[in-house]
Amino acid sequence: MRVLVTGGAGFIGSHFAKRMAAAGHEVVVLDKLTYSGNRANLEGADVELVVGDICNADAVARAGTGCEAIVNFAAETHVDRSILGAAEFIETDVHGTYVLIGWAREADVRLVQVSTDEVYGDVPEGQSSREDDPLRPSSPYSASKAGGDLQVLAAVRTYGIDACVTRGANTYGPNQYPEKLIPLFVTNALDGEPLPVYGDGRQRREWLHAEDHCAAVELVLHEGRPGEVYNVGGEEHENLEVTRRILELTGASEDLVRHVDDRAGHDRRYALDDSKLRGLGWSPEHSLGETGLTETVAWYSDNRDWWEPIKSGEYQRYYDEQYGTRLR
Ligand code: DAU
Repeated sequence: MRVLVTGGAGFIGSHFAKRMAAAGHEVVVLDKLTYSGNRANLEGADVELVVGDICNADAVARAGTGCEAIVNFAAETHVDRSILGAAEFIETDVHGTYVLIGWAREADVRLVQVSTDEVYGDVPEGQSSREDDPLRPSSPYSASKAGGDLQVLAAVRTYGIDACVTRGANTYGPNQYPEKLIPLFVTNALDGEPLPVYGDGRQRREWLHAEDHCAAVELVLHEGRPGEVYNVGGEEHENLEVTRRILELTGASEDLVRHVDDRAGHDRRYALDDSKLRGLGWSPEHSLGETGLTETVAWYSDNRDWWEPIKSGEYQRYYDEQYGTRLR
């Protein structure tokens, strides 16, 4: 199959592009190469990289020529950045998705929209979100992802396009831009820098390895029913537990942990019921608590040449804005 992977130079997108290429598919990546898109993520992979924006219909049509499907990973994804300003989130996550829907309709190809468990908002202890639960996004980021999801599902109903939505849990693994909890804390710990834990650190997330996430998206691409949403769950851990484990694995001192002002609107817990996807035959192969985190820490420790150049320039400006006052 020839497949267009939008956002395929980013974290999860690049894992997916490489996975599909390794399985013998023809892969075209369309990526704007913003701060988190990185050519190095595709190094050595047999994929065609087209630099362009999903908001540009001409760029999408050019990159998509001859493709039988689009898998959309292109998105602004960091909650903290969306709190500082949401315009780019609305532009890429809602308008960009709308442009892809237009092309999927015109070219009559399948669209898989890769989304997030954050669209359901906070989930009380003992409960888990199902695909038909109401959407209650808490951040400008998750509200824009919810907007994209709803555009896709409305286009299935109104225009009969062939599309599915996946909603994944917190994803981790190699090549993740060091603004998210795990890569930020691992690289800071390796450098002896503080680990800024928001609030009491008792928030809970489900952790999903990038390879398991991509296996789920691939399955939905081949087997998903049009108009259906599929949750992709992970393994639930408290942030402080993940933080302590990172300290153990990097050999860093506990004194690096700093409890700082909480994130505005911070969701306490996410949890997914992913039985629908498991019914298609998916189950995760990695466990954060067993080898997942150990292998990820080893990757960052062995690949300083990947993340050290990132942690300068634009990153430093963002870091100072986000953490400067909190850590002072
Ligand atoms: O759940 C899926 C989502 O997971 C994805 O859709 C998002 O793109 C992704 O960013 C992630 O959202 P989170 O907000 O949960 O991820 P993040 O790594 O930013 O934060 C994870 C938890 O760690 C959250 O409770 C906030 C906390 N945290 C995060 C950072 C960056 C801290 O305590 N300190 C930090 O410096």
